[in-house]
Amino acid sequence: MYETHNDLSESIRSRMIELLNARLADAIDLRLQLKVAHWNVKGPQFIALHKMFDEIVEDADEYVDLIAERAVQLGGIADGTARQVAERSSLDEYSATGGGREHVHAVADVLAAFGRSAREAIEVAAAANDQDTSDIFTEISRGTDKWLWMVEAHGQAGEWTHRPATAEDETERHPRH
Ligand SMILES: [Fe+2]
Repeated sequence: MYETHNDLSESIRSRMIELLNARLADAIDLRLQLKVAHWNVKGPQFIALHKMFDEIVEDADEYVDLIAERAVQLGGIADGTARQVAERSSLDEYSATGGGREHVHAVADVLAAFGRSAREAIEVAAAANDQDTSDIFTEISRGTDKWLWMVEAHGQAGEWTHRPATAEDETERHPRH
């Protein structure tokens, strides 16, 4: 750790740097997954989803910077290479292909998982008496909840409410004789 005039104790700073780097991996993963959604989405809602997914990328870029720079302010090193992110991210791999409905569900899943980890970080940082790190995660989780609402709204109007039937569901409903 680097020396700093910051008055938080070295023990608090070191715990916060570890927390920040864990969530940094998640935030970079989120950002990359949203770009994949932005590029590969198809279907009649293409333009709305394509643009919205890129707006989420823009916000995720801000989350990445807030988290990484806080780690450095506390005397740490921000770990954000592709290899570090692949090793450390707590998010599941992005797997949606095909139409807008699949991407909406996959993006909602990753936003919900990221939101949960950010919300947990609010509590961890507050319990460690680092209210500033806690505030950063509060901002991030507030923004993530907003995007989750906007993404989920696409699936709450009726025709997209249910996940697409899988081949297995189809076999159950129409058993082959
Ligand atoms: Fe683009």
